[in-house]
Amino acid sequence: EKQGFKHFMLKEIYEQPGVVRDCLEAYFNSDWIANDSNVAPINLGLPPEIYNDVEQIQIVACGTSWHAALIGKYLLEHLAQIPTQVHYASEFRYAPSPLTPNTLIIGVTQSGETADTLAALEMEKERRKEQQPKFQARLLGITNRPESSLGRMLPNIINTLAGIEIGVAATKTFVAQVMAFYALALDLAYLRKTVSSAKLQEIINGLRQIPGEIEGLLETQEKYIEELVHEFNETKDFIFLGRGINFPIALEGALKLKEISYIHAEGYPAGEMKHGPIALLDEKVPVVAIAMPGTVYEKVISNAQEAKARDSRLIGVTPIRDGEAGDIFNDLIPVPAVDELLSPILAVIPLQLLAYHIAARRGLDVDQPRNLAKSVTVE
Ligand code: M6R
Repeated sequence: EKQGFKHFMLKEIYEQPGVVRDCLEAYFNSDWIANDSNVAPINLGLPPEIYNDVEQIQIVACGTSWHAALIGKYLLEHLAQIPTQVHYASEFRYAPSPLTPNTLIIGVTQSGETADTLAALEMEKERRKEQQPKFQARLLGITNRPESSLGRMLPNIINTLAGIEIGVAATKTFVAQVMAFYALALDLAYLRKTVSSAKLQEIINGLRQIPGEIEGLLETQEKYIEELVHEFNETKDFIFLGRGINFPIALEGALKLKEISYIHAEGYPAGEMKHGPIALLDEKVPVVAIAMPGTVYEKVISNAQEAKARDSRLIGVTPIRDGEAGDIFNDLIPVPAVDELLSPILAVIPLQLLAYHIAARRGLDVDQPRNLAKSVTVE
């Protein structure tokens, strides 16, 4: 069933364009025309009560789903102007935020079986039930398994449509979770009129280009990355830098690498380097900088320069080319320049490939890494 791929993880990386297409088709209404109020642009099939008067959003998740939630927070705050907090489910269980009125609680779990996420949601449901109506929980699950325990617990679900994922490292389910957050944030933005129809149209048009762009990336980058990883046979530590909406991608790149290659890797918001972690850098520690055009582009470039000055090998995930500012990078993994809000879904692809090829080259069991299970059903 690996359809010619050496591992399920690689097969699942290659399934991502199709997953994004399926999400686009399911969540976005192709009949929508800007300024035509008869048709809504997004259809998630959710009851209006869970959206009405929402003043804040709290999201609980673990691992890669927590990274998708961080991107979700950026989108919900930026597009829909709703204050949003993201919690590790394992922390929230024992230190929940104070109750706030009119709060939407979102649980993100691809398997729908993660014990900490289920327990955090159950706790939130119960403690809100005891309070006045305005504190009652509006609960929403984002999952790839609507038939799971999460699906049975919550009446409102966004189904992430990635199909079954076998590799322990989440890839296509992450991309599908991010798609669910685009749809949710844009739906709320549309209902609250916090973005113009023109901007909405522009973002949706951009999203429709994403599957083709991922295909292009896979086609042009995979062989290059497979070659590049020869440089890292002896590498014991990696640093990933990103900022803004791509900070969670730095975290995700580091998590992918550590879980399947057992290399120590850390993701940082690039501006935090100078507050401590920069002391780690030398010629033995490569730095992957995610530099996508937008608000913090120049900032990331100058943070990358600081790493270069400490002799780190610098790998750029960026549309910049050699001869431009790209000269600072030792290795360039080009990604298309897109609207900043859409950039994480492209930037993550080379990082998945990088982790995959480093682990595969080391002869490791990519699909079943040591000490890990596909879903963590114990606390
Ligand atoms: O099924 P879930 O999304 O709730 O799983 C949460 C984490 O265990 C999971 O994302 C884990 O971090 C991934 N295997 C990382 O690739």
